[in-house]
Amino acid sequence: MPVIFHEDSRIFHLTNDYVSYLIRIMENDQPEHLYYGKKLHDSDGFARFHEEDIRSHMAIALPEPSSLSLQYARQEYPVYGSGDFKMPACSVLQENGSRVMCFTYESHRIVSGKPSLKGLPATYTESGDEAETLELTLRDRLTGTVLMLSYTIFRDYPAIARHAEFRQEGPETVMLERALSACVEFPDMDYELLQLSGAWGRERYIHTRPLEMGLQGIHSLTGSGSSHEHNPFIALKRPETTETTGEAYGFSLVYSGNFLAEVEVSTFDAPRVLMGINPVNFTWRLESGESFVTPECVLVYSDRGLNGMSQAYHALYRKRLAKGYWRDKARPILLNSWEGAYFDFDEEKILQMAREARDVGVELFVLDDGWFGNRNNDWSGLGDWCCNMEKLPSGIDGLSRKIEDMGIKFGLWFEMEMINKDSDLSRAHPDWLIAAPGRFESPSRHQHILDFSRPEVVNYIGDLVSDLLRKSRISYIKWDMNRYMTEPYSAGLSASRQGEVMHRHILGMYSLYERLTTEFPEILFESCAGGGARFDPGMLYYAPQAWCSDDTDGWERVKIQYGTSMVYPTVSMGSHVSAVPNHQVRRITPLATRANTAYFGTFGYELVLGKMPEEELAEVRKQIAFMKKYRSLIQIDGTFYRLLNPFKSNEGGWITVSPDKKEAVAGFYQRLNKVNGSFLRFKLAGLDSDTAYSVRFNVCGEEKGYTAYGDELMQAGIVVDRHNLDRIGGDFASIVYEIAAV
Ligand code: DGJ
Repeated sequence: MPVIFHEDSRIFHLTNDYVSYLIRIMENDQPEHLYYGKKLHDSDGFARFHEEDIRSHMAIALPEPSSLSLQYARQEYPVYGSGDFKMPACSVLQENGSRVMCFTYESHRIVSGKPSLKGLPATYTESGDEAETLELTLRDRLTGTVLMLSYTIFRDYPAIARHAEFRQEGPETVMLERALSACVEFPDMDYELLQLSGAWGRERYIHTRPLEMGLQGIHSLTGSGSSHEHNPFIALKRPETTETTGEAYGFSLVYSGNFLAEVEVSTFDAPRVLMGINPVNFTWRLESGESFVTPECVLVYSDRGLNGMSQAYHALYRKRLAKGYWRDKARPILLNSWEGAYFDFDEEKILQMAREARDVGVELFVLDDGWFGNRNNDWSGLGDWCCNMEKLPSGIDGLSRKIEDMGIKFGLWFEMEMINKDSDLSRAHPDWLIAAPGRFESPSRHQHILDFSRPEVVNYIGDLVSDLLRKSRISYIKWDMNRYMTEPYSAGLSASRQGEVMHRHILGMYSLYERLTTEFPEILFESCAGGGARFDPGMLYYAPQAWCSDDTDGWERVKIQYGTSMVYPTVSMGSHVSAVPNHQVRRITPLATRANTAYFGTFGYELVLGKMPEEELAEVRKQIAFMKKYRSLIQIDGTFYRLLNPFKSNEGGWITVSPDKKEAVAGFYQRLNKVNGSFLRFKLAGLDSDTAYSVRFNVCGEEKGYTAYGDELMQAGIVVDRHNLDRIGGDFASIVYEIAAV
């Protein structure tokens, strides 16, 4: 039983082979947090974790002589107003203007499996014995507002999924002003806060800082995406935690809109972690009988370092967040038209690109932006999802058939939530934009956001896209999103509901994903947001892969994919080989390096193959054959380990190892070449110490290799010969090692 209830002490023990999480119902009937971390033997004495003392200025939560104070008790879902002075998990404005609430225990239920979250993406189970869920029902007696705290503990993962649900069962209308998904309190502050932050073209770089008393955290207010700037993820790690050893706690929000991830350390050295929808510009009106569900927050604990934490997220998100036809399938190798053609194409050029792709072994041709409406640049056309017949006279149906007849699949780009003012849709429905009355409508990339908080707008776009998909042969959709939300206001909502616009917009976007993935279950969706502004678990639920970044440079991608792997599995990372000089950083990296990086993702190309010399095309053919051989291992079956941190040194490295440890592929990457440099030792991980492996690698077409035991490869490492790096090109050289048990 993963959820044990000690009736006498009113303690819930959520546990599996890896973790324990302890909740106690205190004397004042509020839930207290007792422990979260490595698995503990069950005991009926866990109440000893409760700390209580009489301190100056403290308010008492019960009639005196009690000394229970909410300022010092660790809480599961703290509310401001009754003695707790740290940031709260929720704030509820009542009709009399008060925000004082007191949610006390009413009942609980323990269910096998995991109930779904209405309208929201979430992890799931496929059978009842995979997880158990504790639902704690609390009530504010005065207003009749019910708060349900949900905790799912998975049998096979060191993971707990949490969310909250508010139900207004009293007669009055209340206003949620803050409704976070999870709060976890820790007893000591000897941690570093790890976050994935950056900007367009350099998303999800790893940053760490020591915890300090007071507030620290990250957030997004960009509305339409979780953002380039901060990923909805943080971890607390011990200062001594490495990639392979030590403790780390991950907090990952399954949400694609505004979020807050905050750690407040009290002056008693106790951190409180809060995560959920950003309360800025958020309110939610709850009338009698209505309810509100928060997004899910997935907690992972590891005592095997950051790799242990990441591997738990990879496995859970790969198998029990991503869903549908493509979940367990290796992904088609694609060629995307964007960097090769941008807006400048006609049917003949597209067919030519597709033919060239087919000839080297590519399996899917993707037509990116520019195929619809009056779309010859990014000033016009968004919203008019009908083929531009001047450019593509056979229409999308005709073009898709011609490409399928060549023997490869066809995919298409959309940006469904967006609109250009220069479009037929905008002229027909000028009020369908998100815009505040009387205010300037800030353009961004010359475009605006369709108001997806209105179901009629979502339905209109859904019908248009669905019709096109039904008539054509489309196997893949790239769903892009290229601007953040400003002036959030919906003409479809009353004044008292304007605080709901941004969340309702995200719910509308999710509902369209739900509709299209249900109607077209075999279409592979790749989410994208001007690169990686929406690389989050919410999107992964609908689209099992996401474009990592618009930066396709071979070395930059080592950093981006390394950071992304902190939470997200390689199979989710859209990664392409592009032309040199690279379009984002103007850098020239070896073709081998561009592929060696892209292998650890979905793999594809984004260039004009016809412009490449024959010897490069021969290399491309070999790259595609390599990926076909290893993609099941890299994307579906293998366990991924980060080995060399490109943020900390001149080198980056990683490895994917098969479950039986008989096969592995490792990537080694160097940034700049060193003059008269030393040889390096590339230490692998995840292999079997007692197994002998053949290690094979390629240096400029020459096959090299040797045999060594796993212990040697992991403890002494592969000697990376500098002469090989020189031959490969010096700067930005890389080597992929194929490892197989002999
Ligand atoms: C931004 C994406 O990240 C690119 O890959 C490309 O699809 C462009 N948008 C098209 O406008």
